[in-house]
Amino acid sequence: MFSAKSIIDKKREGRALGSAEIREFISGFTAGEIPDCQMSALAMAICCRGMTARETADLVEVMMNSGATIDWKGVVDRPVADKHSTGGVGDKLSFVIQPLAAACGLAVPSLVGRGLGLTGGTADKLEAIPGFKVSLSIDELKRVVAETGIALATQTAEIAPADRRLYALRDVTGTVASIPLITASILSKKLAEGAETLVFDVKCGRGAFMKDAAEAHALAESLVSGVCASGRRAAALVTDMDEPLGFSVGNACEVAEALEMLAPGAESGPLADIVGLSVEFAALMVSIARGVPLDDARAECSAHLADGSALAKFREMVAAQGGDLDAFARRLARPTVKYRIQSVRSGYVESIDADRVARVALSLGAGREKPDDRIDHLAGVRLAVRRGDRVAIGAPLATLEKGSDPDALERAAAELIKAFAISPTPPPPKPLVVERIGC
Ligand code: URA
Repeated sequence: MFSAKSIIDKKREGRALGSAEIREFISGFTAGEIPDCQMSALAMAICCRGMTARETADLVEVMMNSGATIDWKGVVDRPVADKHSTGGVGDKLSFVIQPLAAACGLAVPSLVGRGLGLTGGTADKLEAIPGFKVSLSIDELKRVVAETGIALATQTAEIAPADRRLYALRDVTGTVASIPLITASILSKKLAEGAETLVFDVKCGRGAFMKDAAEAHALAESLVSGVCASGRRAAALVTDMDEPLGFSVGNACEVAEALEMLAPGAESGPLADIVGLSVEFAALMVSIARGVPLDDARAECSAHLADGSALAKFREMVAAQGGDLDAFARRLARPTVKYRIQSVRSGYVESIDADRVARVALSLGAGREKPDDRIDHLAGVRLAVRRGDRVAIGAPLATLEKGSDPDALERAAAELIKAFAISPTPPPPKPLVVERIGC
């Protein structure tokens, strides 16, 4: 038995905690024996003093084991894999990567989150599809994955309860920004899913949680080594998040854009950059999970995109989770209020500030600032241009859209225009993949 205070003192002094100390503290907190004030104090000490890779791995393990873990033996006979994104603006890549990996023969049980703050949640976007049931029990998740090879569902109450309680405290005690705590939070949920292979998209830039390359690198390294410490396999790509991904930022509009990305021919269309990035992530999953060379996995993924089997897999998953894509098309066709902004100068789009675009979409109702805010699934921003495009005076830059309330659109439009920097010369090309880690 250790005293909670001695563990807090030890971390405050910058010393590494032993495995048993971490286990006892987190188990005591989860059982309600260690009060929130002591958990918050330890979280702050970890924030300030950090943790070694071994301590982080211990924290991951105890948080993962605070709830149910999913065992896929006897349920699926394919390799189980998943991808996790740290969250970006216009990030609808899970709707392409996960079905593509499933079309290549992997089982992909993907637990996804709701949006809070700037970046939209995959679960909220899926709920733009009428009937889509995003909250599945573990048994329902197993049934959908056994039937279709893929499910996108919210984390159930049984998965990593220690993370849910700790995250609520971190949120109000200024202790979110800590690499070991973020690593333990993400991995406790992702490893409980039972995936043997995990691939991470660590976003970096203005529209991301991690603003600079050094922070993103540290998180990517920590996530990959945390997975490897648990005896599973992982890789991470640090990807640029200065500009929004694709043309659409919102909920229904992002699902619609994902359907365009899944359509045969999309690899050479206007969304080629983010379709290519999706192929890269799916190929990493396939390559690691099946032990095939990355080039072969890329070719397989491209073939499954081109022949429509990734799109068919997405449709199969939507149907298995109760969603109705015909009703979704009718929802998209519903009248909305729109407001178009135009360029006041000619030149090249030098940058589009993802952070500002996300704030505008949030103000329109596409996201939530508080956990119980209601989402307007039809609200969002549709860009007419992307970085590097040439524009003339008066050319459309973007359209803001909302279910109702044209005045709100006009106010938001005044903000959105500030997201665009137009310069006389074209900006240099910028790759989406900043760094590769782990493979
Ligand atoms: N996402 C999580 O799930 N946890 C964190 O701590 C940060 C981002």
